[in-house]
Amino acid sequence: MSEKKFNPAKLAKLNHPDRYDRENPERIWKTLKLDNPRVIVDIGTGTGFFAIPFSRHMPEGTVYACDIADEILQWLEENLPEELRDRIIPVKMEERAVPLPAGIADLVLMVNLHHELEDAAAILSEAFRLLKPGGKVAIVDWKDEPTESGPPLEIRVSEQSLIDQLAAACFEQIRAHASLPCHHFLEAVKPQH
Ligand SMILES: C[S@@+](CC[C@H](N)C(=O)[O-])C[C@H]1O[C@@H](n2cnc3c(N)ncnc32)[C@H](O)[C@@H]1O
Repeated sequence: MSEKKFNPAKLAKLNHPDRYDRENPERIWKTLKLDNPRVIVDIGTGTGFFAIPFSRHMPEGTVYACDIADEILQWLEENLPEELRDRIIPVKMEERAVPLPAGIADLVLMVNLHHELEDAAAILSEAFRLLKPGGKVAIVDWKDEPTESGPPLEIRVSEQSLIDQLAAACFEQIRAHASLPCHHFLEAVKPQH
């Protein structure tokens, strides 16, 4: 396992209650102002800390919960709430590719993933491919400044770098939200044309 990658043995950390103050899924959902989304692709889903509450907002929708780690996906399979089992679909993906068809997603979500990526350009290109025209990508990742917890500073990504990467992947309407204390939070749109 690369040193950058989340250690699945620590997956309980992903469900730590402090996260509701720092990176609250409901706050992020509200900020994104999605228009009746039907399909979300959550890349690097972990324990579904976002996939689960986002799915509850979409009673008729589907969340594809994608991850590279078998242990993580197995945990998710075993712990998904019963009532969400047919709405959250765990998907095993590769480092640079998501095995889902193009143009299906209203939102591609990537939380605390960017600093772990071997090839961010490839994953942003996948996000672009997966989105419907007019669909959104959202990136939330640790600020590149000291915080009480989080990954080593050396592997964190600056907000400007995230903006540049989104622009290079052909996303438009790039917006940075300053609403989270320890995280960058960006959204961008796949153009209609
Ligand atoms: C720090 S965890 C964050 C999990 C979740 N997004 C959250 O915020 O609770 C990062 C996750 O991304 C996964 N991951 C790392 N590189 C990946 C890649 N290239 N594609 C998909 N998942 C990846 C790891 O296995 C891990 O589950």
